[in-house]
Amino acid sequence: MATIRKMAQTDLVQCARIEESALDAWSMEQLEEEFENPVAQNFVIQNEERIVGFCSFHYSCGEASLNTFTIHQAMRGSGWGKKLLSHCIAYFKEKQAHMIYLEVRSQNQSACALYEKLGFQQVQVRKGFYKKPDDDALCMILNLEESSC
Ligand SMILES: CC(C)(COP(=O)(O)OP(=O)(O)OC[C@H]1O[C@@H](n2cnc3c(N)ncnc32)[C@H](O)[C@@H]1OP(=O)(O)O)[C@@H](O)C(=O)NCCC(=O)NCCS
Repeated sequence: MATIRKMAQTDLVQCARIEESALDAWSMEQLEEEFENPVAQNFVIQNEERIVGFCSFHYSCGEASLNTFTIHQAMRGSGWGKKLLSHCIAYFKEKQAHMIYLEVRSQNQSACALYEKLGFQQVQVRKGFYKKPDDDALCMILNLEESSC
């Protein structure tokens, strides 16, 4: 059964392991810094006792930005990411946020498809933003005042 909750310090090691499989992966030090950051909102999704994925936002002045979002490599494509992000959208709506912003590699088909499915719209392209491998960043926004998620 899926449980979604705020990240705890004791989750950091498991999250760092999950993160290793992603491009542009955050290091353990970055995850620890974000954990301490007062504007950060960090969430994990777990199946029974095992953490399946996590995501981290900054939130201030009614604007949330998604900074990292990773599901365990072996668990991708089974709905965990959609559950986690949908929960976070509902959380920020309840806080009366008016938008969520994110950047995604243009070649990241699964993430782009998920964001579009949840109502994010592309607002800008940053050419050559990512390295290793080179890629453009798609800047996307979910307007929470219009969203029906
Ligand atoms: C992106 C990521 C978080 C999505 O999580 P996930 O659990 O794999 O996604 P879900 O199974 O919840 O899929 C939700 C939707 O995304 C889309 N999707 C998922 N995998 C896909 C794939 N391989 N190809 C195309 N679309 C895909 C589908 O629209 C899917 O909806 P559907 O199942 O109703 O058709 C996950 O793949 C991941 O951790 N990737 C590596 C890190 C990363 O790229 N993070 C995003 C950085 S911006």
